[in-house]
Amino acid sequence: MHIDRYERNWIRFAGGLLVVFVAALTVAAVFLGVRLPGIAEQTIPIAQAGGEYDINKGWIRELAPRRYEVNMRARVWSFEPREIRIPAGSTVTFYIHSDDIIHGFKIQDTTVSLMVFPDVTAMATYTFEKPGEYPFVCHEYCGAGHHFMSGRIIVEAL
Ligand code: CUA
Repeated sequence: MHIDRYERNWIRFAGGLLVVFVAALTVAAVFLGVRLPGIAEQTIPIAQAGGEYDINKGWIRELAPRRYEVNMRARVWSFEPREIRIPAGSTVTFYIHSDDIIHGFKIQDTTVSLMVFPDVTAMATYTFEKPGEYPFVCHEYCGAGHHFMSGRIIVEAL
């Protein structure tokens, strides 16, 4: 079979690129420990978190003044907790896991936008400077009640 010289060279070049990319992925994953953003651990920190669990509030811990940690659970079709109250200027780290299927977690007007997988904890940290209401929603379609999956963060003025 005749393959034109230029075509053969491009085939080699494309094949070479594949080898380079696979090598780069392997080095990044195995030697540099590069992980997908947002995935904190392959565990559920709720079990380790301690603190008081309140069915209405879930796990919200004040680590220091204006420093909070929220352990959140997503399931069809709700978040727990669904309402979080914090003072303005608070930095909040969210740890979220799903009890069932893939969900999303997006807080309006912030940079927080996560995919939430079963048995994997997604993590994001954000500082809420401006007082007001920040709604959060599930933004991965997850079935009939997807549009009910929401909640809000109320940032209170000092
Ligand atoms: Cu959960 Cu959409």
